[in-house]
Amino acid sequence: MSQNQPNPFHSSRLIYRALESTDEPFIHTLESEPQGFINSQLALKKPQSTRETKKHFEHYTEKCILGCAICLPGEGENDAPKPIGVICLEPLEPENAHHRHTDMGLGLLPDYQGKGYGSEAIEWALQWAFLDAGLHRVGIKAFQYNTGARKLYEKLGFKLEGTAREIWWHAGRWWDDVQFGMLEKEWRERREGRVE
Ligand SMILES: CC(C)(COP(=O)(O)OP(=O)(O)OC[C@H]1O[C@@H](n2cnc3c(N)ncnc32)[C@H](O)[C@@H]1OP(=O)(O)O)[C@@H](O)C(=O)NCCC(=O)NCCS
Repeated sequence: MSQNQPNPFHSSRLIYRALESTDEPFIHTLESEPQGFINSQLALKKPQSTRETKKHFEHYTEKCILGCAICLPGEGENDAPKPIGVICLEPLEPENAHHRHTDMGLGLLPDYQGKGYGSEAIEWALQWAFLDAGLHRVGIKAFQYNTGARKLYEKLGFKLEGTAREIWWHAGRWWDDVQFGMLEKEWRERREGRVE
């Protein structure tokens, strides 16, 4: 690949690759990790079986328009990239595809959180969504109690669009669902440095 054509499935520190059937144990580890589960899943909070996490694997691989393992390069030159998380863009159903919007989801293993990898992967997936997939809007949602994710999404330029009040029951009380979105023109303005 020439220097003028960087690998489109790399960002500065990360590699994005398709999920393979051999990744099912990794997806189980990721999706059954308790804190990540609480922050990203609506299902009743309980230990997750491989049968339950297999549904996530099938969703990423068979339904999503983008469902990738977020990887670090292998340590040695010949080592395979090491998966540390997943990023996805939800399906565009054929009858709704003309609206050109999707929702993003992502999660990282705990040891790799708070190191900027989530931000880097989101920026990469936004670029893919707007420049490659030709989308118009990318939404992302966070539970009210996931304050870190909410702060991060606003920092990355997603606009707060609204809340669905007291829609989720968790830890003995009701919580809102918080919706953020980014339009292609907003993404381009940020990229061109016109908006901080
Ligand atoms: C949310 C998530 C994808 C963010 O990725 P990340 O790599 O941890 O975030 P970054 O390092 O790029 O950015 C750090 C910022 O994100 C926020 N953040 C969110 N979750 C965080 C976490 N678990 N650890 C540290 N920072 C977190 C912080 O506010 C931090 O902002 P600051 O640097 O101003 O303090 C990741 O933490 C994660 O997978 N969490 C568990 C699952 C989850 O919440 N998924 C999102 C569902 S909406």
